[in-house]
Amino acid sequence: MFRTEPVLQDDVFKVREKIPTTICADGVEAAARVAGIIADTIRQHNSAGKPTVLGLATGNTPVGVYRELIRMHKDQALDFSNVVTFNLDEYYPMRPDNIQSYHRWMKENFFDHVNVPAGSIHIPDGTLPEKKVAKYCQEYEAKIKAAGGLDIQILGIGRTGHIGFNEPGSSRDSRTRLISLDRVTRMDAAADFFGEQNVPRQAITMGVGTILEARRVILMAFGEQKAPIIRKAVEGPVTDAVAASFLQEHRSAEVIVDLAAGADLTRMDTPWLLGEIEWSQEYQHRAVIWLGLQTGKSILKLDQDDYDNNHLASLARKAGPVDDLNVRVGRRLWNTLIRQGMIPSGKKVLCFSPHPDDDVISMGGTLHELVKSGCDVHVAYMTSGNIAVFDEHARQMLNTWADLNRIFDIDMTRTKQIVKKVKEFFAAKAPGALDIPEVLLIKEWIRRNEAAAACRSMGITFKNAVFLDMPFYQTGEVRKRPIGEEDVKIVYDLLKKVRPQWVFMAGELADPHGTHRLCAEAIFKALRRLSEDELPEEVWLYRGAWQEWDIDMIDMAVPLSKAQLTKKIFGIFKHQSQKDKALFPGPYDDREFWQRAEARNRQTAERFNKLGLPEYHAMEAFVRWRP
Ligand code: F6R
Repeated sequence: MFRTEPVLQDDVFKVREKIPTTICADGVEAAARVAGIIADTIRQHNSAGKPTVLGLATGNTPVGVYRELIRMHKDQALDFSNVVTFNLDEYYPMRPDNIQSYHRWMKENFFDHVNVPAGSIHIPDGTLPEKKVAKYCQEYEAKIKAAGGLDIQILGIGRTGHIGFNEPGSSRDSRTRLISLDRVTRMDAAADFFGEQNVPRQAITMGVGTILEARRVILMAFGEQKAPIIRKAVEGPVTDAVAASFLQEHRSAEVIVDLAAGADLTRMDTPWLLGEIEWSQEYQHRAVIWLGLQTGKSILKLDQDDYDNNHLASLARKAGPVDDLNVRVGRRLWNTLIRQGMIPSGKKVLCFSPHPDDDVISMGGTLHELVKSGCDVHVAYMTSGNIAVFDEHARQMLNTWADLNRIFDIDMTRTKQIVKKVKEFFAAKAPGALDIPEVLLIKEWIRRNEAAAACRSMGITFKNAVFLDMPFYQTGEVRKRPIGEEDVKIVYDLLKKVRPQWVFMAGELADPHGTHRLCAEAIFKALRRLSEDELPEEVWLYRGAWQEWDIDMIDMAVPLSKAQLTKKIFGIFKHQSQKDKALFPGPYDDREFWQRAEARNRQTAERFNKLGLPEYHAMEAFVRWRP
């Protein structure tokens, strides 16, 4: 379903990649690899009786590494008693017990579960008065030196190319210091702080120079949102506009990515530009579509010169004559189209929606078409989405509820108690603080009723909608638990109960706070538990609000007329709490969800048309999943 790595003659791609880069199948494999490197070093140092000095990072990227190290500590007695750690950074100002603090993060995700002595842990202090910070930073550097320097520094990378919080402009020689955070970085952190306005403007970070002095540096990146910056860091020029590019000058730096984060590297994106590849069916299809989009020609008009002039002569030789190749690719694309009268009727359909609005945003048009053609359509809302409702919206709902209770003469004593409690909470709520249960409930029911309204607008009977309230999500925080057995069981039981013939689910790997990815993991695990005859006929992956599938990946495209697209947009409008301005719009786009959906569905149709297929107004796209 996702792109595979091409088979290339070994050294060809290294010409472009200026930092040794490994592409792993997924984040789990990558995390195991990095944890293995760290554990080996610790074991070697332990048996030589010397300490191991680790430079550590926080964020979504290294979580798996810490999880694996904790497992090794528990199962294999990996001993951290002679490990000294220095963290890269901390927000400023920041209290260590704050839920967004990197002190607290490190404790919860690592230090509470292993035996690093408390006195060997160093994390920049976000509580100092500003005039003391410069001296403190010098002392931090001195402590790293006194410990013998960093043996291994692990890094994530920000979309600005930052390592630590070394934002664009940070020089090669920069040292530990106070830095102003870039707008992009603050937008990326907005979800953790329940809104960009709550994200601190500054941070204390180790400098690029500090990081480059580590004996070994491992930079990790996962997810397609990191793909463009990984390409810049690995293949681009060394520049202070991308701090990570300085790693090209390090003698022992390496980059470890998953397939999604490595997707823009030339060897993954357009490997035929680098040398001879094995022309599998997948690569033939991709390259011809790329050639069409590149030359602006429809597929059937591509000629031998187009192939020769765009590094595809070898494809023409292997799979030509080009006219035949064009016809094969054109036909495959044509076959993905669900044309007039082809939408199935009478099928039992189950659509999994990670948040209460993903169904309508990503496939509202298709859902409505399925209902119209007589399918029995069910929707499973996997999480309540209660963290993504503005306080003001909850307050408004509370007032309406209290007024109605008064008008209908319903228990005013209890009503007043709740109104008082919630209002007092809001009055004292610190920016970024967690909500009390009453507020979470109000927010949850706001979203449930919006989903009900959207279902009605798509013609789905609301009794066919279930709210799964997956346990992994119920932390009240943006940070989620890993998928557990109880999550998988909920999905499995539903699949057994509904017995759908077609399943739709969010298959993208790029939502800013990981919920889609976790939901997909639970569904895949549940599907794999079904016996052969219980498996649905088809499992279709749609992409969530953030991106669309590339044309060559699409297995089913459902055209929408202008009226159908408008109907879908009206369905999206039913999610009033996400309208005008969503609390978590994702860091990449300022547009509202309906605008993104409209643009993306129209763009897919345009691309199909450019490649020589009929001109439709808009299109929803799906990729087939096979167990
Ligand atoms: C964190 C740090 C940052 C992150 C980077 C990526 O200590 O220094 O550079 O590594 O912002 O963050 P995630 O991993 O959350 O995508």
